[in-house]
Amino acid sequence: MEAPGTIVLPAARRTGGKPFMEVIAARRSSRDFDTSRELDIQTLSDLLWAAWGINRTKGRTAPSSHNRQEIELYVFLKSGVYRYNPVEHALVMHLAEDLRAATGTQPFVGLAPVEIALVSDTTKITGKTPQGIIEATYADTGFICENIYLFCASEGLSTVARALVPKEGLAARLSLPEGHIITLVQTVGYPAARD
Ligand SMILES: Cc1cc2nc3c(=O)[nH]c(=O)nc-3n(C[C@H](O)[C@H](O)[C@H](O)COP(=O)(O)O)c2cc1C
Repeated sequence: MEAPGTIVLPAARRTGGKPFMEVIAARRSSRDFDTSRELDIQTLSDLLWAAWGINRTKGRTAPSSHNRQEIELYVFLKSGVYRYNPVEHALVMHLAEDLRAATGTQPFVGLAPVEIALVSDTTKITGKTPQGIIEATYADTGFICENIYLFCASEGLSTVARALVPKEGLAARLSLPEGHIITLVQTVGYPAARD
């Protein structure tokens, strides 16, 4: 029995997409979004799996220091804030509130359909200095963000990784437990239509 509000995602399509070198050639940040168009559920599924899904036993689509897998994805949609559960490949309702606008101050924030906050559970990183923890978890964050960039380049979606995030306020809105820190937020949507 799923928790109320859980979105069970369709299985991700593990085939297709553009040839790799075309994807790299197209990778870029874009801050232009079609604010009237939401991602369909299959594209959202593929995006989250590409970002940080499970692609083999105990393995993920991005590397992580000592395979700690300490990053969690909080997905902000119009219908609420969800946590990505990679085992179930599902979005578990965290807050039934549209908090997209609380993830930043740039003009497109709150209007683009998807915001993905990368949250590090730093309590999983043991045996490191505070600086070592930050170095490891920001490296891990970067790989996931690049996966999002590459998926978006392949699918013709717009995306931008953002450090410009009111992190303390957002962490409070999300009631993040002690030791959980927001590292980056990435905006995703369809590109704005051109005249
Ligand atoms: C760690 C990091 C933080 C960033 N923060 C922001 C941000 O807060 N807002 C924004 O519009 N772009 C942000 N960017 C996007 C960069 O501005 C962008 O990657 C850079 O200008 C190069 O452009 P490109 O990605 O199209 O190659 C960030 C990128 C990185 C890697």
